[in-house]
Amino acid sequence: MAQTTLISREQIDGRVAEMAREIEAEFAGTELIALCVLKGAMFFCADLVRNMTMDVALDFIQISSYGNQKYSSGVVTILKEPQLDMRGKSVLIVEDIIDSGLSIREVHNYIESRGAAKVKTAAFLDKPKARKVPFTPEYVGFSIDPQFVIGYGLDFAEKYRNIPEVQVLSD
Ligand code: PRP
Repeated sequence: MAQTTLISREQIDGRVAEMAREIEAEFAGTELIALCVLKGAMFFCADLVRNMTMDVALDFIQISSYGNQKYSSGVVTILKEPQLDMRGKSVLIVEDIIDSGLSIREVHNYIESRGAAKVKTAAFLDKPKARKVPFTPEYVGFSIDPQFVIGYGLDFAEKYRNIPEVQVLSD
């Protein structure tokens, strides 16, 4: 397996700080919950909220669609439900990557069903050419071509999440 840098630590830091400012401009004055989609988004979510100065509540949801495979099984399972009452609140779903769109579509529909007044999505990475279902996130860190990426939370069979930059994994 070869690993090559796609997005450096410096690029990540700069873009995540910009995204925090964009998000604050939209949500200032609202009761905001940042909903981190475990496990992959944990680093992005931590960096994003630490760059925000407004009050923001944190919650977590865990879903699984990939198991230990490189490709989505297409079946999305909720492994851990959020704890906070979302009725009437703004919820920002914080995802590491949107690929087929199946996971985020499921999470988005689920959060709307819990009565959130406003649901938006911040995705660190977006692979628009890989969609199986249409979905457009409001905030995107980097838009990338379909390729298997690891690091900054993203894994392959639970490895590589702790690499501090984004790398392409190739055979
Ligand atoms: C990954 C990623 C997204 C989803 C994106 O999660 O974190 O949630 O896949 O792919 P999709 O758009 O094709 O649905 P995964 O199920 O691998 O769990 P993890 O975050 O715990 O690694």
